[in-house]
Amino acid sequence: MEKRKIVTNARGVDTNLNKEDIQVEGSLRPKSLDSYIGQKKIKESLKIYIEAAKQRGDSLDHLLFYGPPGLGKTTLAGIIANEMGVNIKITSGPAIEKPGDMAAILNNLKAGDILFVDEIHRLNRQVEEVLYPAMEDYAIDIMIGKGPTARSIRLDLPKFTLIGATTRAGMLSAPLRDRFGMIHRMEFYDVDELSTIIMQSAGVLDVEVDAEGAKEMARRSRGTPRLANRILKRVRDFAQVKYDGVITKDVAVTALDLMDVDKLGLDHTDRNLLLTMIHKFGGGPVGLDTLAAAIAEDSGTIEDVYEPYLIKNGFINRTPRGRVVTEFAYRHLGLEMPSGADI
Ligand SMILES: Nc1ncnc2c1ncn2[C@@H]1O[C@H](COP(=O)(O)OP(=O)(O)O)[C@@H](O)[C@H]1O
Ligand SMILES: [Mg+2]
Repeated sequence: MEKRKIVTNARGVDTNLNKEDIQVEGSLRPKSLDSYIGQKKIKESLKIYIEAAKQRGDSLDHLLFYGPPGLGKTTLAGIIANEMGVNIKITSGPAIEKPGDMAAILNNLKAGDILFVDEIHRLNRQVEEVLYPAMEDYAIDIMIGKGPTARSIRLDLPKFTLIGATTRAGMLSAPLRDRFGMIHRMEFYDVDELSTIIMQSAGVLDVEVDAEGAKEMARRSRGTPRLANRILKRVRDFAQVKYDGVITKDVAVTALDLMDVDKLGLDHTDRNLLLTMIHKFGGGPVGLDTLAAAIAEDSGTIEDVYEPYLIKNGFINRTPRGRVVTEFAYRHLGLEMPSGADI
């Protein structure tokens, strides 16, 4: 069984997986490439590779997906298995503690199987080293005996496909990264794509949403399908109790305002981060660790979860001297940018 990081904080727009997501996501996960919305570039190349591999009766090259949480990495791994018509074994970096555990998993794979390793950047070094010959030569080296008489024997593995997912490609070691045949960066989704996902999910959940309602929720979903689905569920509850169940633009706006998610998808935590940079550090530049300490947050979480969206949408710039708040962010927060500010 997959071990997943469960985040229990109450952040409305937290893109990490929480308990509720695990229950509902299964049903909302698209099962085929055609129902997987967006990520056009990735989809196009996958289609070709899958087609070609199937024609040759071969397995796919090892694949790495990277990008912020909630953008569809796990979903895509499942879809690839479906499209290839093979089994998928799901595990994660922190779940595999010993080289022997990894060897056992690899040894149990059947020809063509997919091994999905989530948070692959968190594999420890010794476990990672088991993967090198496995990925390259479809073999594992096993040590027999101890001390001077110890010797290693090589065990052949069936041809399999490793799919790795990570929020941080930068933390992957070079030898591991080099063994992936394809490396794809997941992009944030635009409003139209998120609207489509919301309509699709509304169909599964049997919720009535009009086009404007979907669009309003999409706008505030931080470019992230996981969030779009979560917002849809929250707003549905609201519509059910307060209105006649239909999610219109008005219903969405009222519910999202109550959830403290603003028009550009920023929530309390995002605004707190920006305001801290402005009030405590004169708008920056401020280093990641200093900022993390100031808002009592883990620097990795800022880098993986909060910052990518803020950078992508022009609220923060990353400079060699640290993070800087942009004029756009000042305006969005209704603040005047001090003249001569360092940007
Ligand atoms: N391209 C997509 N089209 C439709 N729904 C998607 C898409 N990508 C993600 N989702 C939805 O978002 C949820 C989170 O995606 P997931 O694959 O778990 O993200 P990640 O593994 O990158 O954190 C999925 O359960 C699915 O419902
Ligand atoms: Mg995932």
